[in-house]
Amino acid sequence: MNICRTKVQLKHAVKEAKQQGKSIGFVPTMGYLHEGHGSLLRAAREDNDVVVLSIFVNPMQFGPNEDLDKYPRDEQRDLALAADCKADIVFIPTVEEMYPTKPLTSIKVADVTERLCGASRPGHFDGVGLVVSKLFHLVEPNSAYFGLKDAQQVAVIEQMVHDLDMNVKIVPCPIVREPDGLALSSRNVYLSALHRSEATVLSASLNELAEVLMFNGEMTAEQCINLIKDRITENTSGEIDYVELLQYPSLTPVSPKLSLQRALSGSRFIVALAVKFGSTRLIDNALFQVEEVIERV
Ligand code: PAJ
Repeated sequence: MNICRTKVQLKHAVKEAKQQGKSIGFVPTMGYLHEGHGSLLRAAREDNDVVVLSIFVNPMQFGPNEDLDKYPRDEQRDLALAADCKADIVFIPTVEEMYPTKPLTSIKVADVTERLCGASRPGHFDGVGLVVSKLFHLVEPNSAYFGLKDAQQVAVIEQMVHDLDMNVKIVPCPIVREPDGLALSSRNVYLSALHRSEATVLSASLNELAEVLMFNGEMTAEQCINLIKDRITENTSGEIDYVELLQYPSLTPVSPKLSLQRALSGSRFIVALAVKFGSTRLIDNALFQVEEVIERV
């Protein structure tokens, strides 16, 4: 495994692969890797000749009162998982290497960043867009792998790639969960025992909604949101940041009082939530397709 700490080292490794006509699959991460990241690496491994992993806690996507300083890090463990998933190149730059000077260029994707995490974390997706676009330029991947755990991030990156004619295929990958349903996240380590057990309610409420919707396409967006909110407030001490039902991937609103079956025939929607347990903010979501019945996808 080739560990690159500078852009020059990375570009050299990429150039070598390109010269040999090899396809490159890229998995950008902020490290503290878990099986969610592992699933992306394995998907990249399956589709490509060379797999590049980046590990970089990107300060530009954290707000002033967010958890940048205490974001978990463990390089040795990350490298072991990367090797296990057969990554070929691991790019681990410092902040100074990535941003030698304060960037004056920003990437602002409108509309899809207006709601959900874009609304509760102002500037977050500008930082994501900037770092991902820098990484795409450095790695020049044929395909890049992103988890649907961050479904809004996938929508933002897809829009950026489309708008800027970036020559990379974005591959969205399914959410990997703990056996009890909790979506894997680097931030889960911060949950107290009580919050960890309460946090299972997030995925359980999405599962319950999926079952109800299968048999009742007449439900409205408002009813769906209320079902999720009720489960969370009844069964946890978590503080709801948002629970929203939006069209996907446009992330545009759905009429709250129309039946989903009628409002969204033939299209997809997302039910997305963010809940704070103590100082740890967890997100989860489910995607649905509206056909004769409403099915989770
Ligand atoms: P990070 O939170 O480390 O996540 C890296 C990738 O792993 C993202 O595409 C994310 O959606 C995916 N991922 C995380 N948990 C997952 C899970 N339980 N199942 C499936 N995929 C999961 O997302 C970022 O880093 C950053 O914003 C980044 C894109 C690297 C830009 O800095």
